[in-house]
Amino acid sequence: MLASPAQVAETACGMITDLITSVPDCVLGLATGSTPLDTYRGLVQRHQHGLRFDEVETFNLDEYAGLASDHPQSYHAYMAENLFDHIDIDRSDTHIPRGDADDLDEECLRFEQSIRDVGGVDHWLLGIGSNGHVAFNEPGCDPDSTTRVVDLAPETITANSRFFDRAEDVPRRALTAGISTILSADRIVLLAYGANKAEAVAEAIAGPVSPDCPASFLQTHPDCTFLLDTAAASLLLP
Ligand code: F6R
Repeated sequence: MLASPAQVAETACGMITDLITSVPDCVLGLATGSTPLDTYRGLVQRHQHGLRFDEVETFNLDEYAGLASDHPQSYHAYMAENLFDHIDIDRSDTHIPRGDADDLDEECLRFEQSIRDVGGVDHWLLGIGSNGHVAFNEPGCDPDSTTRVVDLAPETITANSRFFDRAEDVPRRALTAGISTILSADRIVLLAYGANKAEAVAEAIAGPVSPDCPASFLQTHPDCTFLLDTAAASLLLP
């Protein structure tokens, strides 16, 4: 547990920096949303001070179904704006499922295979939904799931609506890495801050391993770290 969101981001950034420094051609799994923004800012600052990404390969967790890469609310646009445009990564080494692919199922298979082709992810950075989702693996998901198209839970659609002008524009479906895709990473680091994540965090760490809280499947991973601020950890404290 860390005192503040800033310390969560600093620690997450330090772990990724150490990995890139020791393994310059490492494979990173990345998330979007509000949670990793400060971590990405930190990585950009470290790049300005010499950290190189030119051999790093990245895979993102998810993308909205139906959104083209240049849609301002797409996760392609988010990654460009918050990280890729500011570092020296080769864009052909960045992988995000395409929400505008002609055949979304085929796209999911291609994405999953592309992770296998590089030998898997070394370090997957995650956030958590207030309903316990990781990526867009919503409550009820299968622990053996791989990348696929899913329907978003009503609370996820509501949470995501803050980024869209009109309620009817909020995507109802997404392409998402599965629980098994995430668990196949060598190391997983989940970040959470704020009291609205406390219940999901407590269920994920101290509750039963159950599809009711998809993040609880992380308990089965041998190298998974939760970086939490005091508010997100509040229901775990004695
Ligand atoms: C994003 C993702 C989601 C978010 C989660 C938390 O790629 O996979 O699972 O991590 O919805 O979102 P924020 O960080 O906006 O609270």
